Amino acid sequence: MTHDTSSLLSDSDSRFEHLQAAFAERFGEGPGDLVLARAPGRVNLVGGHTDYNGGFVLPATIDRAVYMALRRREDQMVHLRSLDFEEEARYTLPESSFRQLPQWAQYVAGVVEELHVSHGLDSGFEGVLLGDVPLGAGLGSSAALEVAAAEGLKDLFRIEISPQETALLCQTAEHEYVGVQCGVMDQVAVRVGRAGHALSLDCRTLDHEHVPLPLSEANIMIADSRVSRELADSKYNERRSECEKGVAFLRQFDDSVEALGDVDRSLFREHAGEMEEAIRRRCRHVISENERVRESAEALREGDLAAFGMLMSASHESLRDNYEVSIAELDQLVTTARNTDGVYGARMTGAGFGGCVVCLTADEVIPALQKRLIKQYEKQFGRAPTLYVVEDNLETVTLNQSRA
Ligand code: GLA
Repeated sequence: MTHDTSSLLSDSDSRFEHLQAAFAERFGEGPGDLVLARAPGRVNLVGGHTDYNGGFVLPATIDRAVYMALRRREDQMVHLRSLDFEEEARYTLPESSFRQLPQWAQYVAGVVEELHVSHGLDSGFEGVLLGDVPLGAGLGSSAALEVAAAEGLKDLFRIEISPQETALLCQTAEHEYVGVQCGVMDQVAVRVGRAGHALSLDCRTLDHEHVPLPLSEANIMIADSRVSRELADSKYNERRSECEKGVAFLRQFDDSVEALGDVDRSLFREHAGEMEEAIRRRCRHVISENERVRESAEALREGDLAAFGMLMSASHESLRDNYEVSIAELDQLVTTARNTDGVYGARMTGAGFGGCVVCLTADEVIPALQKRLIKQYEKQFGRAPTLYVVEDNLETVTLNQSRA
């Protein structure tokens, strides 16, 4: 690992200590390298549903992560223990059917399989994991788990893969073994996101720029609606195919169009009237959202938080009205946040149909904002949202504790 891990790990020290103790208790001290890996969750500030359309996004990592301790075995068995679920998973390589494994282990098994296919990984290993990224809340818990596994295994088995390729490998694992046709934003954000920065990412080329967050002036706050995202996966795949229909339609007029990310406003305007209503709205969202991401990255570079906040809010409106992936709970949290003095902007984040809202807010109004969000939400929905202030943007790191 090229990072100076001492400064990056301080907050995670106690987690790693806990993990190491749990590892020793379950698998014994033994010889061999013990690799520790950490990969954070992420929150997307602007750029909803643009990643799988060859577009732009602007996420940042959060201060919650997945932690893993891994050690090589002499045989071909994979033996994992989740401290959160108090569950174990065990199988022998090569294994092609993971369906009998607990879901958390399927993510790891998918990554192992991809490393097997691409780099011939066929040795067994044992591992312990834990995490505090809320599950199913749209904060990148799956990507954090995949990236922690991939980075830990790369270090353990000395496999060289670039950060971008690692992200793509994790995305493939999710497509093939978990069955969610996600874009690549989460895995790249989790893998390359940097402390104190948002990530301006071109999801087609994976070119990216780390844009400083104005942490002395504003903070990121997340409100989890706690609505389970039952519809998320099926609606996600439905939106993807609607976008593909939009591409097929627009390609008739310009055959260089391969994704909605290639479509500019004038081409869309010219032909929007001939499109089916739902497809037109999905395209309108993606094309305008792409512009908003580029404008918001520029606003962030210039430290123009007011402009940034307006773009966040416009993004929410388009996700609600054009892309139709919001729900009443998310809309209400956004409206309450936006009506609070000192809040720059708010929008739903992640796939939608539940999950979280992200707010960019001046520090001093956080207590007032928290109070208002809880009060209004309880009044309308009979329960409180869960609120998180993002104190830090963690980075993905691995540590090799050699015990020859
Ligand atoms: C989910 C997916 C991402 C992205 C978002 C919507 O989080 O995993 O790839 O498509 O939804 O922006």
